[in-house]
Amino acid sequence: MMTDLAIVVLAAGMGTRMNSALPKVLHKVANRTMLGHVLAAAGGLSPNLAVVVHGPSAEIVRSESLKFFPYCKFATQVDRLGTGHAVSMARDAALGFNGTVLVLYGDVPLIQTTTLTALLSKIDATHPMAVLGFEAKNPHGYGRLIMAGEAVTAIREQLDASPEEQRIALCNSGIIAIDSKLLWQLLPKLHNSNAKKEYYLTDLVGLTADAGFAVALSVCDEAEVAGVNDRVQLSTIEEGFQNRCRTKAMLAGATLVDPASVFFSADTSLGQDVVIEPNVVFGPGVSVGNGVEILAFSHIEGAVIGEGARIGPFARLRPGAEIGAEVHIGNFVEIKKSKIGKGVKANHLTYIGDAIVGAGSNIGAGTITCNYDGYEKHLTEIGEKVFVGSNTALIAPVKIGNGVNIAAGSVITVDVPEDALALSRTPQEIKAGWAKKYRTVKAARKAAKK
Ligand code: UD1
Ligand code: CA
Repeated sequence: MMTDLAIVVLAAGMGTRMNSALPKVLHKVANRTMLGHVLAAAGGLSPNLAVVVHGPSAEIVRSESLKFFPYCKFATQVDRLGTGHAVSMARDAALGFNGTVLVLYGDVPLIQTTTLTALLSKIDATHPMAVLGFEAKNPHGYGRLIMAGEAVTAIREQLDASPEEQRIALCNSGIIAIDSKLLWQLLPKLHNSNAKKEYYLTDLVGLTADAGFAVALSVCDEAEVAGVNDRVQLSTIEEGFQNRCRTKAMLAGATLVDPASVFFSADTSLGQDVVIEPNVVFGPGVSVGNGVEILAFSHIEGAVIGEGARIGPFARLRPGAEIGAEVHIGNFVEIKKSKIGKGVKANHLTYIGDAIVGAGSNIGAGTITCNYDGYEKHLTEIGEKVFVGSNTALIAPVKIGNGVNIAAGSVITVDVPEDALALSRTPQEIKAGWAKKYRTVKAARKAAKK
């Protein structure tokens, strides 16, 4: 694209039907806010300017936007007087910008970069405006596109449409692209003498035609421009997005044994030949290396998993888990903020938090790093090729040297030097015949009571 690009995201909706204290656009799909999805899709176009139009007191909307566009600008729409009014709020922020303005909705999160590119490609000297439309299964409620040949001549809102116009299935997604000069020239001409007493952005189509230009149409899939008004629709969008992630993962070389039971985050990254068993959940910030196997019922969040590792079944990786290559993390093992070296095995019932575990170490069943003293977190350092016996408690801060053996059942409070054996448990006593005597006495006592 030769001309400069600005995006204007409408996000001032109150989202009443969400019944939420949170602004609607901050509700999440695949652990990314809807606004984030829209900004990520727009980010693929590398716009020169981004403006988010939000409602009053929307500090969190601003900070969320800045995560995706560090140079984002903002405009506040206090009174919600319609989509046209909302766009006009962005004028000051866009002062001095010359090029194409792309208007997006903050509550339409499934929109994809390729679809926006196709819309923008319709803009040329004779078509200074383009509308993104779709064929609606049930057009009720949408603005209908009135066509003359290839050109859109008007958009008629539901409440203003004649019975004949209401039969039109080609609808307005709300997403438009328009030359900035034309936009700022036409916006003041909008009026609100319509059924909703709102300033309709859609009336720009008629005004553009009146100005002697043609308005182009670009058509996309209905699912991609579905909006969210309540949490039922949010769940539908989530399902659609999850399906998109699953298909993408499989086509990119991951095996999903039961795709419908695997849940991704928008930012999940998978290597090649990853195998994912049923019922696996990926929270935000997960990166999985080539050839990793993730067995059933594992929950993974904020973790990096090295090549050829095997995770689960029933494993939990929490933020800051850095799992090295060929590591085995087994059932009921939880790892938090820890660096696990190459080839480490922690196969059963273990908590490792705030720790560094050297390559080739074996962490026995029931090992716990006692990292928290009720006030602060402390580090456990385990060297390479350490053998930690079952049911060991490592009281952090503590440091275990390379090649150490820790006897099962130990409570380790003191640093252990290289190649030593550490053992901390009460010496075992043997009382010959004790159990037999005990049984005889107890049985006699019980019999006497009857
Ligand atoms: C709008 C379109 C309609 C289209 C439909 C697609 C207009 C007049 N109508 O209708 O043609 O088929 O979207 O979903 O544009 N918003 C603001 N400030 C406002 C008004 C709206 O920020 O003053 C935001 C909303 O939060 C939402 C978007 O703009 O993200 C659309 O507003 P909404 O009221 O849902 O428009 P519709 O009546 O559904
Ligand atoms: Ca709507």
